[in-house]
Amino acid sequence: MSLLIYGAYGYTGRLVARRAAEHGPEPILAGRDAQKLGTLARELELPHRAFALEDGTALREAVSEADLVLHCAGPFARTAHPMVEACLRAGTHYLDITGEIEVFEYVASQDARATEAGVMLMPGVGFDVVPTDCLAAYLKEKQPDAQYLELAVFMKGNLSGGTAATAAMNAGRGSAIRKSGRITHTPAAWRTRQVDFGRGATKVVSIPWGDVATAWHTTGIPNIITYAKLPRGAEHLMKAARYAGPLLRTRPVRRFLEAFARESAEGPDAAMRETGRSFVWGRARTAGGGAATARLSGPEAYALTARTALGTAERALNGSAATGFQTPAGHFGADYILDFEGVRREDLSQAKRGSS
Ligand SMILES: NC(=O)c1ccc[n+]([C@@H]2O[C@H](COP(=O)([O-])OP(=O)(O)OC[C@H]3O[C@@H](n4cnc5c(N)ncnc54)[C@H](OP(=O)(O)O)[C@@H]3O)[C@@H](O)[C@H]2O)c1
Repeated sequence: MSLLIYGAYGYTGRLVARRAAEHGPEPILAGRDAQKLGTLARELELPHRAFALEDGTALREAVSEADLVLHCAGPFARTAHPMVEACLRAGTHYLDITGEIEVFEYVASQDARATEAGVMLMPGVGFDVVPTDCLAAYLKEKQPDAQYLELAVFMKGNLSGGTAATAAMNAGRGSAIRKSGRITHTPAAWRTRQVDFGRGATKVVSIPWGDVATAWHTTGIPNIITYAKLPRGAEHLMKAARYAGPLLRTRPVRRFLEAFARESAEGPDAAMRETGRSFVWGRARTAGGGAATARLSGPEAYALTARTALGTAERALNGSAATGFQTPAGHFGADYILDFEGVRREDLSQAKRGSS
């Protein structure tokens, strides 16, 4: 069974490729820059295929030879479409590590075609959204009638260039929540609250995390807000960006911000990935006042992304792939995240009243 990793020489693609070289399944590495790709392939002693997503023939050939594509080249708003299309036509399973709401919704819209093609489309197999999706599914099991879901994330450490560039690309677009089943746009940093990731009350700010799309597909809960603990000053910058929205959405300014973000963000180094931790908190509430609260802690977010992305590819290749659009917890269940070393879940529903 063959695995193609596209975007293999990017920050996250590299982590995934290196892990695959060490633990298997042996992948074919791919990306658009032949030189960067060749250097990595020689270092890891893995086969490689260099092609741009715009090169339809090369894309089709490479995807047809694989059983599964693990797409790591983002921003995915620019890269998901040609790869999904190639996978649907070739009958090849598709996974990616997006966290972009519009990309989840685009991939979900291809559900019927994927079912017909016998292909699984599972976007979001990284930190965004495997742990949050599993926590959402767990809370739904605890409160089957839940109408409201809140999820918060806390990633200690730096962002990678690609993550920062993806955030910069969307900086002028405000935020989003799910309201009565529909994705609804809100101003940036629209809401704040306190949650306890396990270290006391922590302020979190609403952000457009991928679960606004996926948690609804997984749980059917119609009202969803996602939050993150942000670095000092970020909330004020986000609020200021509300007034600069039209300017931030212009192509030259967006390109400048993306390039600047890419240059300034290096991603966590090996020591940070080794010692860092990531945290998720969630609460599901019913209209009648019932509530379930739980939290997860796990390895540093990029380290966990490499593990969940490759682990999910491996499972799918070993016969656990479904067909159609799938979310990680929707397909593998709420406990899926507990399969990954270092992840712990704590149910706070029984905890003392007043702890958030
Ligand atoms: N969901 C999660 O938890 C999670 C975790 C990590 C990363 N991500 C996302 O994954 C993406 C990559 O992150 P990263 O940190 O690895 O970024 P990165 O270091 O900037 O790498 C991006 C990779 O994508 C390639 N790429 C970008 N645009 C492309 C295009 N139009 N055609 C072909 N290849 C293209 C780049 O190739 P070139 O160098 O040739 O441009 C590079 O290989 C980002 O969107 C990020 O937000 C998500």
